[in-house]
Amino acid sequence: MKVGLIGNGGREHAIARGLCANPETRLFVAAQGKNSGIMNLASAYQETGFSHPHAIIDFFTNHQVDFVVVGPEATLMLGIVDELRSKGIPTVGPTQAQARLEGDKSFMRHLLRNEIGWGSPAWLSTSSVDEAKAFMDEVGQIVVKPLGLTGGKGVRVMGIQLQDDQDTLNYISHLIESDGEVLLEECVIGEEFSRMAFVSDEVLVPVPLMQDFKYAYDGDQGLMTGGMGAYSMADGRLPFVEIGELKQADVFLQEVVVALEKTTGASYRGFLYGQFMVTESGIKLIEFNVRLGDPEALNLMAVLDCDPVKIFYQVATGQLNPDDVAFVSQASVSKYLVPNAYPDPIGQPVPFLLDSEVVEQAGLILIHGSVEKTGPSEWLALGSRTLGMVGLGVDPGEVSTHIDEFLTRNPIPELRYRKDVGNADVIAQKSKRMDEIRSDR
Ligand code: GLY
Repeated sequence: MKVGLIGNGGREHAIARGLCANPETRLFVAAQGKNSGIMNLASAYQETGFSHPHAIIDFFTNHQVDFVVVGPEATLMLGIVDELRSKGIPTVGPTQAQARLEGDKSFMRHLLRNEIGWGSPAWLSTSSVDEAKAFMDEVGQIVVKPLGLTGGKGVRVMGIQLQDDQDTLNYISHLIESDGEVLLEECVIGEEFSRMAFVSDEVLVPVPLMQDFKYAYDGDQGLMTGGMGAYSMADGRLPFVEIGELKQADVFLQEVVVALEKTTGASYRGFLYGQFMVTESGIKLIEFNVRLGDPEALNLMAVLDCDPVKIFYQVATGQLNPDDVAFVSQASVSKYLVPNAYPDPIGQPVPFLLDSEVVEQAGLILIHGSVEKTGPSEWLALGSRTLGMVGLGVDPGEVSTHIDEFLTRNPIPELRYRKDVGNADVIAQKSKRMDEIRSDR
């Protein structure tokens, strides 16, 4: 099959590897920049600005692709799916109107309030600093969120990234000035989990639960990042999410798809990712993504035990058959290696050495992110998440240790990563903490 793919990050490299595991795949990639991992797999690779959708449409039309998978949220927000479908090209991804679920947080909260009736913490979308102050006085600790896309880096929490009330009000004023409006939410306490699903015309097939490690350093220290790594368990669950809470999350996702289809008048055919938190008062939706998570896609593509070409084509054409989707009964861990300064800018690209064959010999999958391969073992880190390492095993702790030991034997001084992703003690502490939080219910 001729498959189109949009995007050139680690997520898209993981997707490309999965698609190309089928020897009959021919991959055609439209990307904003180079990704040597994807380029090695692609039959054709076109670099193009995503703000010029016609170049992307022409590329896929000229190559007569059978369907397209869209990776990045920004492209979805620009309406690329609407354009591809209007040319008769089935596409994995929501329409522009549906992509507002991720790209417009005020739209998302209003949809939940009006159509679902539960799932949100206390919130206020406002263009008034006085209203914001009144909300702060009423709710206490709040989270300040820009309405649009920020790559996970614009959200600030009072008491963490925002020192005090004045700091919080300054950030609110800044966002109102730049965006016209800001979203404020009650800061809820608990453990987060990622529930992603393949969705096609109201058929949802959830994938194993995952937990993303968003902060830059071990112990959730430092700034928020795009995500430093994620893990999943062999049984597809997480120990701190009770079965009732998981069922609630799945019912919630189903209700949201139905509501979104009703509101937009179109079938939802793509990935849906609910980022939830288990709290003292049940599960809360923190945010939606209308594409696969990054790093979660690295784990997903490693545990998927069926042909992604078949499944993604079914999604794109409204024929998703849950019986065709299978996952290995293994735990997974992904860890991103990043420049030492990340998420701060690095100035100049950072050269480093790594023999990718040694990674494979250790039974690990190497995912190319924001990186250029300049020689057999020579690389340039370009600034964002550089390389992903993914492993499978009996439990996340074992895989996490395996990745750490590999990086101790093969150090890359120019890059760093989080050791605690998937660590057994860290997972046990999370379960204990959740038990304590639940006992207050
Ligand atoms: N893992 C968070 C994200 O993909 O946005």
